Parts: sequence; C-alpha cells; structure tokens
Amino acid sequence: MKRIGILTSGGDCAGLNAAIRAVVHRAVGTYGWEVFGIRQATLGLMAQPPQAIALEIDKVDGLLVAGGTILGTTNKGDPFAFPMPDGTIRDRSEDIIAGYHQLGLDAMIGIGGDGSMAILRRLAQQGNLNLVAIPKTIDNDVGVTELSIGFDTAVSIATEALDRLHFTAASHSRVMILEVMGRDAGHIAISAGIAGGADVILVPEIPYTVERVCYTIKERQEQGKNYSLVVVSEAVRTETGVCVMSTDRLGQCRYGGIGQYLADEICTRIGAETRVTVLGHVQRGGTPSPLERVIASAFGVAAVDLIAEAQYDRMVTWQKRQVVSVPIPEAIAQYRAVNPHGTLVKTARGLGICLGDEQRVGSRE
Ligand code: F6P
Repeated sequence: MKRIGILTSGGDCAGLNAAIRAVVHRAVGTYGWEVFGIRQATLGLMAQPPQAIALEIDKVDGLLVAGGTILGTTNKGDPFAFPMPDGTIRDRSEDIIAGYHQLGLDAMIGIGGDGSMAILRRLAQQGNLNLVAIPKTIDNDVGVTELSIGFDTAVSIATEALDRLHFTAASHSRVMILEVMGRDAGHIAISAGIAGGADVILVPEIPYTVERVCYTIKERQEQGKNYSLVVVSEAVRTETGVCVMSTDRLGQCRYGGIGQYLADEICTRIGAETRVTVLGHVQRGGTPSPLERVIASAFGVAAVDLIAEAQYDRMVTWQKRQVVSVPIPEAIAQYRAVNPHGTLVKTARGLGICLGDEQRVGSRE
C-alpha cells in the first residue's frame, strides 16, 4: 500500500486531466494505492495545511475529454526565491518538503515542462522525495521526448484556425497572418503550417527577410492566387533582430506582436491587404485530441509503474512509438528546437512553402 501525490505545474494545456485520470486508474485500480491531487502545483504543498484532495476512480470520471487541469497550476513563483506578500523574497523549499511529508506521501508524480521539472527535481534532491516526471508543454521543446502532453492539441487548434482563415482570405483577397505560441521553438508553427497548407512559415530557428516573404506573396499573385496564409511563431524577431515582447503591470514579459509587425511591413512594401490573428491561449484550452489522450494515458500508467518498481528521479518519454523512461537530469538537459535541416523543414520546402530565407529567391520552379 502506497500513498502518492500528483501535481500539475507550469502553463496548462489539453491532456493534463487525461494523465491525472490514468494515474488514478493505475494507482487505485491496479495497485490499490491512495492518490492525492495537490492543488496549484507546489503552492499546494507550501500551504499550511497542505492543499490536496483524495482522488478516487469516480472522481476522475469524464476527465479524459476535459481541458485544463482539475488540480490547478501556476507558472509563477520559484519556491527557492519566492515573492512574499510584503515584497521580500524567501526560500520556501523546506515548506514544500514539509508539505510532502505532512501528507504522508511515498512518492510524487510531477507533470510539467523543463522549468517545472528542474524545480521539482531540486526539491526532491534536497528533501529526499521520490519523484517521477511526466513531460507536458505545448511548445514540445523537451529534448528527450518526441511528444509532450499538450502539443498535438495545440497543433490541431492552429491547423483548424488556418483551415478557417483560408476561406476568408480567399473571399477578401487578403494576406492572413496567424501568430502561434511555442515560446522559443517553432514546433507548433512548422507542424500547423504544413498541416494547414500555409504559404509562408516563419520560425525562430530560421532567419528570414521580409523581402523573401513579399516575393512569395507577389509570386502567388502573379500565378492568379489572390490570397496567402502566413504562420509565424511568437518568438520570431523583427528583421533587425528585435524581440517583440510586452510587459504587463505585474512585470511579466511575454511574446506577442510579431504578426502585426509583419502585417505592417507586407502592407507597406507591396500594398497587400493584411489581417492578423493572434491565436494565444486558445491553443492551450479545450478538448484534447485523440493522440493527446493516448499519450497522456500512456504516460500516466507508465509513471505509476515506475513508482511500483521504485524507479525514481526518472521522466517518462515517448520514443519510437513507446513509452520509455530517462533520468530527469538527462531530460531537462536536452532542449529541442526545430532542426533547420530536419524532416519537417525539408517537407515544407518540398511543398514549396516559403520559410522566409533566401533558398528560392530568383527561382520559379
Ligand atoms: O510554455 C507554454 C506557453 O503557452 C508558451 O507557448 C507561451 O509563450 C507562454 O506559455 C504563455 O504563458 P502565460 O500563460 O503566462 O501567458
């Protein structure tokens, strides 16, 4: 008999609830353990008393298709340098470790991206906590896994947006620019761009010129195609290398605005009518795709099995159609950007999609 905890940390995404459901089914249904769902990531362990709910199988009914996370999450507040209400910064790591022991946990499953994973591992090392990790991030930039929870659904949503933009672009003879998330990696843009039949895809990993983008749009016009679809990753910089970000009143910086920059440049240079759609958090919400549900379920079951085998400090990953586990330090050490020479970039070029670089300037093949 074990008692395990589960928490979701970092930005939410589709598929988190499916993973929670799988953990409960495997841990309670197969092994007869107790599962505690910890509220609001490490904040739930920091609280006094710790904020957690007992999760039984009937509590996770219907969760397979539900977006978000029933446990809540946060992507703020490093517990090692935690901002206190009085404005001071405190190390709250020992409070979290105490919360884990107060709940009587034998092990904990942390679902998060590389940032959350680094924090959870540091806590586990400091407090001798038994940690198993599940990767989630719509950005899909965790190097050791081909898929993280959230990515496939985000790509589906961005693809659906392109499908819709296609018709309105054609009706009005416009250049439609779709700005997608992904932080510093262009995985959502390249996948959705190919799937949604974009004419131009701009990712942070491939330098571009506006001239090349305009050339493609003009070339299409000459071929009698009265509209174009451009997908751009939020972290793409301006042509002069300026990062387009804004800071909110809480002092948090976030990407946003590169789509409008491109729209203005394209309109100014070639007079095309442009419109911008910033997809934003729509990419994180809603019903998980079928593949998402499969991956999240497989990760949840495998994470519980790792605990059953007392294999801690490991993260489950998806590699070559199966779940395997790797040490967490290895998992967080490997960042995965879009490979400029990889299959998807080759595919896009092979389809005649402009990636904003100079490769096809002057050629009309
Ligand atoms: O890392 C996931 C992500 O959705 C990024 O793609 C995006 O840049 C960021 O989080 C947005 O964060 P927030 O939820 O704080 O606005």
